[in-house]
Amino acid sequence: MKNVSVIGAGTMGNGIAHVFAMNGYKVDLIDISESALEKGMTTIEKNLGRMLSKEYITQDDLVNTINNIKTNTNLSEGVQEADLVIEAATENEQLKLTIFKTIDKAAPSSSIIASNTSSISITKIATATARPEKVIGMHFFNPVPVMKLVEVIRGYDTSDETTQTIMKLSEEIGKIPVEVNDYPGFIANRLLMPMIIEAITTLVQGVAGVREIDNVMKLGMAHPMGPLQLADFIGLDVCLNICKVLQEGMGDNRYAPPPLLVNMVTAGKLGRKSGEGFYNHGSKELIVSKSFK
Ligand code: 3HC
Repeated sequence: MKNVSVIGAGTMGNGIAHVFAMNGYKVDLIDISESALEKGMTTIEKNLGRMLSKEYITQDDLVNTINNIKTNTNLSEGVQEADLVIEAATENEQLKLTIFKTIDKAAPSSSIIASNTSSISITKIATATARPEKVIGMHFFNPVPVMKLVEVIRGYDTSDETTQTIMKLSEEIGKIPVEVNDYPGFIANRLLMPMIIEAITTLVQGVAGVREIDNVMKLGMAHPMGPLQLADFIGLDVCLNICKVLQEGMGDNRYAPPPLLVNMVTAGKLGRKSGEGFYNHGSKELIVSKSFK
């Protein structure tokens, strides 16, 4: 494999493009607008600069990585030469089905099509294509250049060959893949969301404040971020969507999103990306949002 097309230049898409380009792959980074692509490229340059300043990479590595990435606003054009397409668009099932249909028509029939979905069924996504055996999940974690894990999700029809190719490729880009069958929330979010739901319920019941709940998990369980800070980092809208997929897919109300989470998303408090969630994210210091003081 040489050519990788990444769809979506947002947080996950630009991280995935960064990692492949840094490992010598030619990357087509695709998004609907020039401004989204510019923003994605700026983030990649900033994160490469951070790696350069820590001497993890050289100036040549930085330049080669940037040169390995081409941007494109045309989806069909951008996947024409792809050996692998990785879709990292917004978590919306209808949108993903439409994108997969377009990719299936435009990409070479030999190419594998992966989705970075955090919880939408790979089996369902594969139905939009005529090559379900070549459709697979590659679930990366934020920040992609730092986090080692890739959940490799086998849909109902994903072939052994496709799975082995993606497991091997994940290792080649310095990641540690874990093979998972297609089931709601896979492993990561099936285990993570109940913790976030329980942290929010603990807060609502007045057991302790935001910082205290997070400190218990950071200091007592050695998590790099507490569950409420992590929910802000992931995006409260993303957490809400994953909870709904889990609740519906498992038919189990243990995964029901807490009303506080629903209210915060409705009020536009989406966490880090909107500037406020359980914390205020305006400054370097983590300050608990005034709503929870
Ligand atoms: N690109 C490159 N390097 C980055 C980076 C990026 N975007 N972000 C951070 N780094 C590097 C820093 O340079 C630093 O390197 P060093 O340790 O060699 O000095 C290291 O990562 C740590 O960064 P910082 O010192 O700036 O800050 P922290 O020590 O607070 O770490 C963090 C930041 C890595 C984000 C850490 O807090 C963490 O691991 N948090 C948990 C992240 C997590 O759980 N992610 C998964 C979310 S769930 C998900 O993505 C799936 C979805 O489906 C919900």
